[in-house]
Amino acid sequence: MLKLENISYKVDNRVIINDLNLKIEKGDTIAIIGPSGSGKSTLLRLISNLISPTQGELYLNGKAYNQINPERLRMDISYLLQESDLFDRTIGENLAFPSIARGDKFDRKKAKSLLKAVGLGHYHFNTRVERLSGGERQRITIARQLMYTPKMLLLDEATSALDTENSENIERIIFKLAEEGISVLWITHSNNQSMRHFKKRIRLVDGKIEKEEHLR
Ligand SMILES: Nc1ncnc2c1ncn2[C@@H]1O[C@H](COP(=O)(O)OP(=O)(O)OP(=O)(O)O)[C@@H](O)[C@H]1O
Ligand SMILES: [Mg+2]
Repeated sequence: MLKLENISYKVDNRVIINDLNLKIEKGDTIAIIGPSGSGKSTLLRLISNLISPTQGELYLNGKAYNQINPERLRMDISYLLQESDLFDRTIGENLAFPSIARGDKFDRKKAKSLLKAVGLGHYHFNTRVERLSGGERQRITIARQLMYTPKMLLLDEATSALDTENSENIERIIFKLAEEGISVLWITHSNNQSMRHFKKRIRLVDGKIEKEEHLR
């Protein structure tokens, strides 16, 4: 489904991603681990087309990225950032944003059920997100990301601000989506409880894949 071919990313002669090759199939669940600064977030930014490689090519279903409409690509590949990127308005306005971007009607029922799924069913749409805790903001971000089902979900330490119960809850939601055919690429900690749920684990060191393991 997704293919990275000899991808490099250099900034000022510094190599951040170094001649990387990777194939991701439909429904794959891949954990990305590696030391701080090894290029994990950069790799997800390349896949989500936020930045372009300085060398190599990415393909989605056989089509090179530069042949795909960037908006289409953004809808197919959903990227959950390391830090929450809600805008300082209400929960409802944040959840409605994906539909506005698509020119669709806001599905309030779906928003309500997602809010409940991430454990925030007690909040109202008119609650302002500035009042929420870091973990609550993170969960609103996840709910917003799931208003539309992408082909691929990229998560950058998405549950780092959450307690065990809440992160296990989010993991359940994400792995259920993978069973339905979404590919998941998740930057996480190697000692994470959920590791047994992943099909593969990739360890990144100095912008290169140091190790690729099949877990099940
Ligand atoms: N646009 C840029 N300009 C300069 N340096 C950059 C740029 N983007 C990334 N880097 C550098 O590339 C390296 C890899 O960054 P990246 O954010 O991908 O690491 P990471 O593996 O996600 O680390 P962490 O686990 O701390 O989040 C870092 O040293 C970072 O400073
Ligand atoms: Mg990072």
